[in-house]
Amino acid sequence: MYKVLYRKYRPRFFKDVVGQPQVTVTLQNELMRGRVAHAYLFTGSRGTGKTTCAKILSRAVNCLDPQEGDPCGVCEVCKGLEEGSILDVVEIDAASNNGVDNIRGLIEEANFTPTTARYRVYIIDEVHMLSASAFNALLKTLEEPPAHVIFILATTEVHKLLPTILSRCQRFDFHRIDPQAMASRVQQVAQLEGAQCEEDAALLIARIADGALRDALSLLDQCLGRGRQVTVEMVNQTAGVAAQGYLTALAQAVADGDAAAALETLDQLHRESKDMARLCEEMAEYFRSLMLFKTMKDPSALLTLPPTQLDALEQQAYTMSLPAILHGMDALEEALHKMRYANQRTQLEMAFVRLCTPELDASPAALVRRLERLESGLPPRPLPAAGGHDRPEAPPGPLGAESPRPEPEVFERAPASPPPPKAAQEKAKAPAPQPKPPQPPVDIEALSASAQRFRQWPEILQVIRGSTKSVAMAFDESAAFVNGDYLLIQAPEFAFELLKKPEQRQRMREAVFQVTGRAYKLGPYRLPSAKGQEADPLDDLLTRAGEAGIPAQME
Ligand SMILES: Nc1ncnc2c1ncn2[C@@H]1O[C@H](COP(=O)(O)OP(=O)(O)O)[C@@H](O)[C@H]1O
Ligand SMILES: [Mg+2]
Ligand SMILES: [Zn+2]
Repeated sequence: MYKVLYRKYRPRFFKDVVGQPQVTVTLQNELMRGRVAHAYLFTGSRGTGKTTCAKILSRAVNCLDPQEGDPCGVCEVCKGLEEGSILDVVEIDAASNNGVDNIRGLIEEANFTPTTARYRVYIIDEVHMLSASAFNALLKTLEEPPAHVIFILATTEVHKLLPTILSRCQRFDFHRIDPQAMASRVQQVAQLEGAQCEEDAALLIARIADGALRDALSLLDQCLGRGRQVTVEMVNQTAGVAAQGYLTALAQAVADGDAAAALETLDQLHRESKDMARLCEEMAEYFRSLMLFKTMKDPSALLTLPPTQLDALEQQAYTMSLPAILHGMDALEEALHKMRYANQRTQLEMAFVRLCTPELDASPAALVRRLERLESGLPPRPLPAAGGHDRPEAPPGPLGAESPRPEPEVFERAPASPPPPKAAQEKAKAPAPQPKPPQPPVDIEALSASAQRFRQWPEILQVIRGSTKSVAMAFDESAAFVNGDYLLIQAPEFAFELLKKPEQRQRMREAVFQVTGRAYKLGPYRLPSAKGQEADPLDDLLTRAGEAGIPAQME
């Protein structure tokens, strides 16, 4: 049976673990001095050796004849544990067993002495995924662990752990592995497989894997599927083209101002369990490459990419403005920073919504981008019409291109326009209603002015939280008001942007229906007085320039 390379070459001894001496040497020294803790915490990004070291540690503490803190690998306990005939080491994936019952069962078991080994070792992987009650159950045992029990907790997201857990564990941080060290391991594994990997190819694999040895070995695995002599071209072909595809798509969404397309791509990548922070970094790197193309004659020396990818970048750079690219680098940098303490996916989504609609972004980079558009003589981009992808069929909303000044946006098509007269409503249902009758603008302000606070709103948000967290978080600080058939929501602009995705809008409607039993029309809550404050300085500038007869093309 074929075993994937990264499993086949999982180190069995601390001395074979690459690039984590702050963990392996320290543990070996402590074990040699007979110092064993009852709870260890291994943290760090994926594919850096956490599970590997947890397994080694579980054998090292039980080995009958340890060698400088490493397990011997030949005694009956080492063998029994490796083969799985001794059951005193238990591995639990908290991502799939996160309930309190799983943990309770485990803890009850922990009270029994081990059958063969000295210690009963529990390796709890992805420990941040445990439910709150499961955590509490675990905490009780961590407070007073039985003498024969050792917990090894592993997580990629240490900031999600309670301080009470952290304070009870001896913590080890795993680092991203240095490219040179990874490259030699890649070459070594290729040789053990009876193949060859050129040095440059190994370095390129290391660079693409970005510190995760697991990813490096997976990539090597795929390359070896193509041939026994791994070259730079082969690595590039295997890894590059596929990976650059979605970055190009996301940049294109920014260039087109298509927030819905960006959100859909992000959603797809999220479902493929792409790491959102990593994606954010890759995207920032991609914008940097675009910037180099925009500012240098020949940046290929600075970009280690194959010709096809360079060509694709160059073409895209040609269609994008430098301020848009810089805005991209800026916004992603900021998102990456915020990701450390906030929901990563939401941060990335918000960054892209801002990038696709710079009108919503008050950052200097966004303003520069809009000014540049003005100076180039292009009309300022209107805010995307309600309905995202439905745009083409949407009725000319209050934000249509013909409208000189954006009116408050309504994000649902039907109510987006004014409560239409009965006749027009019927007409809309008829096939091909052309030409569309001009629609009077919805008087959102008048509706808002006489609306009542909507008391069931928190309940609705509760329902939404169960299905779509990003929307729920965006509406965290929101309020809602009701007027007749209209449910008017007061929330930041980016929250409305999320509702441009048809599925999200649908979920919102369903949640409203579920709680109220009524099919309200959704719209934004805007009071007349708020208008002055919300006025956009750039729009004012535009209007005044127009009034004064100043051409948009400025010196
Ligand atoms: N530091 C390392 N040294 C050697 N191999 C490693 C290292 N980190 C990861 N690997 C390789 O990647 C595979 C997965 O590593 P693992 O320990 O499961 O990573 P993590 O638990 O940190 O996600 C291992 O089987 C091994 O082949
Ligand atoms: Mg792991
Ligand atoms: Zn042994």
